[in-house]
Order: sequence, then C-alpha cells, then structure tokens
Amino acid sequence: MTQRYADGKMLAEIDQGVGLITFNQPEKRNAMSVGMWQGLTEILDDFEANDAVRVVILTGAGHKAFVSGADISQFEQNRANANAQLEYDKLTSAGRARLALFSKPVIARIRGYCLGGGIGIAMQADLRIAAADSEYGIPAARLGIAYSFEMVRKLVSLVGPAHARTMLFTGARIDSAEAQRIGLVNQVVPDEDLTETVLRMARQIADNAPLSLTAAKLAVNEAVKSESERDAAAVHAAVAACFDSADYREGRTAFMEKRAPRFTGR
Ligand code: COA
Repeated sequence: MTQRYADGKMLAEIDQGVGLITFNQPEKRNAMSVGMWQGLTEILDDFEANDAVRVVILTGAGHKAFVSGADISQFEQNRANANAQLEYDKLTSAGRARLALFSKPVIARIRGYCLGGGIGIAMQADLRIAAADSEYGIPAARLGIAYSFEMVRKLVSLVGPAHARTMLFTGARIDSAEAQRIGLVNQVVPDEDLTETVLRMARQIADNAPLSLTAAKLAVNEAVKSESERDAAAVHAAVAACFDSADYREGRTAFMEKRAPRFTGR
C-alpha cells in the first residue's frame, strides 16, 4: 500500500523487502520543496526502524525527472540571502543527514533530469542506476548560488576533481553515457529496462544478510572519509557483529545444505 507524505509529494511503499520512495511533484519535474525534505525524513525514519525494509529505491514520479533540484519557487521566500540560507539549511538538513546516515543500501533509480540538489540526493544513494536518456547537471553557478562543501566533496569522491570542476564551472548538462564514463552513475540501461533492472538488483540485495550489508555500507562510507574523520572502530564493531550473528550460522548451514539462506538480520 502506498503511504503519502508531504501532502502526497512524497510517496512510500514496501514490497518484498524493498522500500520504494518516490519524489512526486512531476509538474515541477520533482523539484524538492522544504516539505518534501521533511517527508523524506519521516519515510527514512520509518524505513530505518522497519525490519521489513532491507533495501531502498529512490525514484522520481513520471518519466521526465528524477529530481530537478531544489524548488526554485521557494527561494524568494526561504533562501533569499546567506542568513535565510542558514534557516533553509536547518529545515532541509535533517533530511540530508538522515539520508547520509541511513544504514541500509539505497539505490537511486534515475530517469530524466537529475539536476543540482537532485544529483546531491542521487549521490547520497549507494548506487545509481540510470535510464539511457537521462541528463545531469549542476546549475548552481547559473543561479548565482553554490553547491555546499559536503556535496562538492561527494562529487569529487565520485568523479574526481577535474570532472567536478567541469560540471560546477559550466553548469552544463551531460548525458547518461558521459555520467557513467566519469563515475557519476554505476550503470545505464535502456529506458524500458530501468524498473526491472533496479528491482532485480534490489531483490538480490534484499536476499543478503542485513548485518553484512550494514557493515559493507559503513565500511565504504568510512573508507572515503579523511583519516581524521574516519570511525574505524565502528566498522570493526559492525564486522564483528556479523561473525557473532545467527545469520552467519544460517549462511554457512544453508551453504552446506545446498539451499538458499533465510536471513533475519540477527
Ligand atoms: N524548481 C521549481 N520549479 C521547477 C524546477 C525547479 N527546480 N524545475 C522545473 N520547474 C518547473 C518549471 O518552472 C515549470 O513550471 P510551469 O509549468 O509552471 O512553467 C515546470 O516545472 C516544467 O518545467 P519546464 O522548464 O517547462 O520543463 P522542461 O522539461 O522544458 O525543462 C528542466 C525541465 C528541469 C530542465 C528545467 O525546468 C530547469 O532547468 N529547471 C531548473 C533546474 C535547476 O536549476 N535546478 C537547480 C536548483 S538549485
């Protein structure tokens, strides 16, 4: 059953271990309003606590956009100068932090425009799978604003400084083939295969041991941080939790009995 958040501009549903989150403002190419950020936070809180969710897919409603960035129509009211931007940041940062700290694997399913803050959201997903006709760009310099340090850092970690500069300086859009070439997206598939490809991958992930997924996600996230920020102890603890888990017993028993394992996350 689909649950509605942010007056229906954010949608959530759970099916066979997969939590689907839809940015649902297609008439504005799924531009992110403040309310949608709050809705996203609520959905992620629910999905984090719900054992029925093993993996999450983020996607945009309709065929035209993943997310076309922040909702520019709210800028005059909410983001007109540096002070207002601080307030705006407070309103949206809970959602960003929730996404950054979300412990389960997240896949961004991208079709159509993925711009500005939309790339920011997609970059916070663990994997990005895109339809061939999608377009990506960071138009901040065309609007007279700047991408946050956190987002630039994420961009650089994915595409390297040279491609990051090109995207940030020109504000120009690139296509899926180029996005894959520079490392912004993991995989590009024909438009008609997108939903099925992402679902297949999500189900494959959902069948794996949840504690192993948590440890893997944490380890990759900590690995790309600078050494002074890195929490290696948390990674070691997450790895140790796997070795002490009932799922590890189930994994090796299932292997010996030549059957599929049934993991519980404990
Ligand atoms: N914020 C608010 N409204 C947006 C929006 C955004 N980020 N992106 C699109 N919209 C609105 C448009 O204003 C338009 O509204 P209208 O129908 O009332 O005129 C509607 O969505 C459709 O957009 P349109 O430009 O007509 O569609 P398009 O398919 O020709 O182009 C985009 C789509 C996404 C390329 C174009 O709308 C665009 O460049 N949007 C801004 C992207 C941006 O700068 N994002 C970064 C924000 S920080």
